Amino acid sequence: MIEELLPPGVTSSEAFDDAAPAPLFPAEAALMQGRRDRRRRQFATARACARRCLADLGRPATALLPGPGGAPQWPAGVVGSITHCAGYRAAAAAPASAMAAIGIDAEPAGPLPRGVLGLIASDTERSHLADLAAADPSTPWDRIFFSAKEAAYKAWYPATGIWLGFRDATLTLFPDGRFTTTLHPPLPPPVDPHYRGRWLAGPHLVLTAVAREHRRPPQEAAAPVPASAAAPV
Ligand SMILES: CC(C)(COP(=O)(O)OP(=O)(O)OC[C@H]1O[C@@H](n2cnc3c(N)ncnc32)[C@H](O)[C@@H]1OP(=O)(O)O)[C@@H](O)C(=O)NCCC(=O)NCCS
Repeated sequence: MIEELLPPGVTSSEAFDDAAPAPLFPAEAALMQGRRDRRRRQFATARACARRCLADLGRPATALLPGPGGAPQWPAGVVGSITHCAGYRAAAAAPASAMAAIGIDAEPAGPLPRGVLGLIASDTERSHLADLAAADPSTPWDRIFFSAKEAAYKAWYPATGIWLGFRDATLTLFPDGRFTTTLHPPLPPPVDPHYRGRWLAGPHLVLTAVAREHRRPPQEAAAPVPASAAAPV
């Protein structure tokens, strides 16, 4: 499912149960020591997904440990993201030369618990979600909204190290499966704060993903395509 939300050049892997966990590296096993069984299984299956992504990129398996803020530390030259929720685990990754940032998130389908939306959405965002719900009551817009903010945060944090609350982002969902978000951190943003992503809502799961390419210098972006490059091959 998650691959539907990611552009070419980003590899992904997902699992719907914990039947094939990864054997853990010693540092990963030490991290999971004393943790609940559910967390250990979730962690190991997500590592299996991440290692499949690394294999797709021609990279050897390696320990994927949390860095500052909990973000997974991918090997040098790789950007990626991990998510897990009940009945779902996934990872996505790409060469850092191809992608600047990736964030993926999974949530169980269905509305958010009562009271949560008021904590994570502005008045404008709530009004936007109410409009979407009026037009299509069967889609869990508030859950998609929550997940999309988390996906954007997972792309943002590894690049900046700046923690953001849910009110530090303004998000717009589009019924065609896209979303846009602008992060407005309390510090001057060292990277572009505008993210575009995609969402998917199935009967059991909501998935969201952000994958940002490197920004091209303006002169390169504006340069005309040479006739030879534009010719069919
Ligand atoms: C970090 C956070 C986004 C994780 O989301 P979640 O729904 O709780 O959990 P998920 O299962 O989807 O994702 C967990 C994975 O996210 C990754 N992750 C954790 N912290 C991260 C961070 N700071 N940056 C990027 N990825 C992170 C990890 O790989 C983790 O899995 P692992 O511990 O097995 O390695 C969430 O706990 C959080 O802190 N949210 C508050 C900040 C936020 O989302 N603000 C929105 C403003 S835009």
